[in-house]
Amino acid sequence: MQNRLCEMFGIEFPIFAFTHCRDVAAAVSRAGGMGVLGALAFSPDQLELELKWIDEHVDGKPYGVDVVIPVKSADREMGLSDEKSLADSLYGMITQEHWDYVHKILADHGVPDPDDAALSRGGNGSGSPVDQGVLGWTDITGAPLIDIALAHPIKLLASALGPPPPEAIERAHAQDVKVAALIGRKEQAIRDVQTGVDIIIAQGYEAGGHTGEVASMVLVPDVVDAISPTPVLAAGGIGSGRQMAAAMALGADGVWTGSIWLTVAESDMTPPIMEKLLDATSTDTVRSRSMTGKPARQLRTAWTEAWESPDAPKPLPMPLQFILWSYATRRITAAGNRELLGMPVGQIVSRMNKVRTAKEVIYEMIEEYIEVTERLNRELADA
Ligand SMILES: Cc1cc2nc3c(=O)[nH]c(=O)nc-3n(C[C@H](O)[C@H](O)[C@H](O)COP(=O)(O)O)c2cc1C
Repeated sequence: MQNRLCEMFGIEFPIFAFTHCRDVAAAVSRAGGMGVLGALAFSPDQLELELKWIDEHVDGKPYGVDVVIPVKSADREMGLSDEKSLADSLYGMITQEHWDYVHKILADHGVPDPDDAALSRGGNGSGSPVDQGVLGWTDITGAPLIDIALAHPIKLLASALGPPPPEAIERAHAQDVKVAALIGRKEQAIRDVQTGVDIIIAQGYEAGGHTGEVASMVLVPDVVDAISPTPVLAAGGIGSGRQMAAAMALGADGVWTGSIWLTVAESDMTPPIMEKLLDATSTDTVRSRSMTGKPARQLRTAWTEAWESPDAPKPLPMPLQFILWSYATRRITAAGNRELLGMPVGQIVSRMNKVRTAKEVIYEMIEEYIEVTERLNRELADA
């Protein structure tokens, strides 16, 4: 395909794939799309290893990295400057009522809840006193991820929950790396373009992960019109050629996809999660604060339901709720408890019912995209 994003990045198809799995990122880039590795779950050392691996397996094709540093970061607000004081402060802010409720949920579902250091505070093997995930959500722990990313030959630095810090944008631009930011409202798109972001990812309500309240069908054209000529990627509910064609018809220059890559052959999902994703329909997801503290679309589980119950405490703000979720998830996974086991995923999960390779997903999308645009053209010609 020929369009300005394909030209900008030297890619064949304007299909961008967000993933936490290096194999998926590299496979998408090799197939002609743009793999973007989510850095959130990695410590700087781990991220370095992942990116080195991608460099060796991407056949010289372009790829990107995604970081998550919220505009309001806990450490920035508290004036903290090191990981230990960050961990102490964060843990100190979690109420006993919340811990008690987590222990109750686990007990109600028969999940062993040992006071085991390896399963508890920062128990992610990274050596950090803060949990993986929280790692990327603060200045102290997130900024080194940007340093690592920019030390590799990435072509795109993407950022969720607000634009990257201005100095990161400047550094990226100095290295000819484009900067993208995810938004859920038109006003955020305008703010991010003013901050120097090159590409806006307009993500609708149906998307997996953190998501706003506006549906893609309304959000994408509103954003395209508000920030023209800045390129826009449409995100949320895109996993087929018809959905891609609809996104392009709304004025997007390409598509930014996430959920669809969770069930590809290269994905690192564990068998129980893979099974749940393959079985789920579009009504099996829910937008809930129970995972991270911000509304995030995910599988509806006994965990999300428990936090909706009238006797539940209000979920804590980001990143505190994620500490509770991580604590519980390590135990839920160890126990193999299917009812509580969850995962961020979008409504497109209804179409994720067989395992395909990343290349098959891209090629099937493009074939269907061609079919549908030809059909529309024919109908116009016949009229
Ligand atoms: C499992 C999962 C984790 C996600 N984590 C992040 C993240 O760390 N950073 C980010 O920018 N977006 C994240 N997202 C959102 C995706 O980047 C993307 O915008 C979204 O998946 C698009 O909608 P879709 O799920 O309908 O394809 C995540 C999505 C999923 C499904």
